[in-house]
Amino acid sequence: PDFLSSITRPEVYDFEGVSMIPCFTMNWVNIQKFQARPDDILIATYPKAGTTWVSYILELLFFSKLGAERQKTMPIYMRVPFLEGIFPGLPTGVELADQLPTSPRLIKTHLPVQLVPKSFWEQNSRVVYVARNAKDNAVSYFHFDRMNKGQPDPIDWSTDLQKFMDGKKVFGPWYDHVCGYWEKKQTYSNIHYMFFEDMVEDTGREVEHLCSFLGLSTPIEERERITKGTHFDTMKLNNMTNYSTVPVMDFNVSPFMRKGKVGDWKNHFTVAQNERFDEHYKQRMKNTTLQFRTQI
Ligand code: A3P
Repeated sequence: PDFLSSITRPEVYDFEGVSMIPCFTMNWVNIQKFQARPDDILIATYPKAGTTWVSYILELLFFSKLGAERQKTMPIYMRVPFLEGIFPGLPTGVELADQLPTSPRLIKTHLPVQLVPKSFWEQNSRVVYVARNAKDNAVSYFHFDRMNKGQPDPIDWSTDLQKFMDGKKVFGPWYDHVCGYWEKKQTYSNIHYMFFEDMVEDTGREVEHLCSFLGLSTPIEERERITKGTHFDTMKLNNMTNYSTVPVMDFNVSPFMRKGKVGDWKNHFTVAQNERFDEHYKQRMKNTTLQFRTQI
């Protein structure tokens, strides 16, 4: 049998109240004592909310001046370490972050806000959070788990949607994740809270807002170049950003850069699923001021 079909998928278990799999908890002691720095930028997201997109925007904003060699030879996951990740054949996320030669360090995490290593808050590091509407996020996560054999088996769409609603997907409930960082913003001002839908609607505007948050006076021509360079079609063709170098992903099932759209949920939810989802959503989100757009 070929490599991909020989992989045994993990099962989720409860870890500090959050559904997790070994590759995100095995290094826990080192993750917890991770030493953040004041100039670090933590890119925090629920899985499939636009992590790679905003990572690449930040990478280009800070490091395109380092030259084409870096852009052509280093996959995004080596430039922006995945803090809690521990994958065969790679240094741990913590090691990668500790060894980053450039500053600021760009560090990716999917941890819900209550599990983020406390030194980020103590150091007043900058946090860029990207949130995506629940319906598209659930669809994207479903296709990701189909193709990524390192993730639990999604079984089928209706089973997986139920898991999403029950908060049983890896990294726990979407609802608590997006609300947790939203609430954190009330007391911790160094969070820039972004929406995937806004990025699709007007990437240039969102890059501009990001620059003001970061205190960057990037000239407009440069920003426009970055907006173009991080377009879905460009990133899909770029082997350093499209995850084609990751062996556990089966691109024959679904590509990492799948559609990049707002509203693809309409092609997946049945009318009944949609009604049930909306009802449950209202309950889960009744205590927040956070608002999402499911179409633009
Ligand atoms: P879809 O599965 O809906 O296509 P993450 O990086 O957090 O894993 O998120 C992946 C999702 O973001 C995928 O969504 C992917 O296609 C989308 N994405 C990545 N880069 C994008 C870009 N430049 N423009 C629009 N969507 C992008």
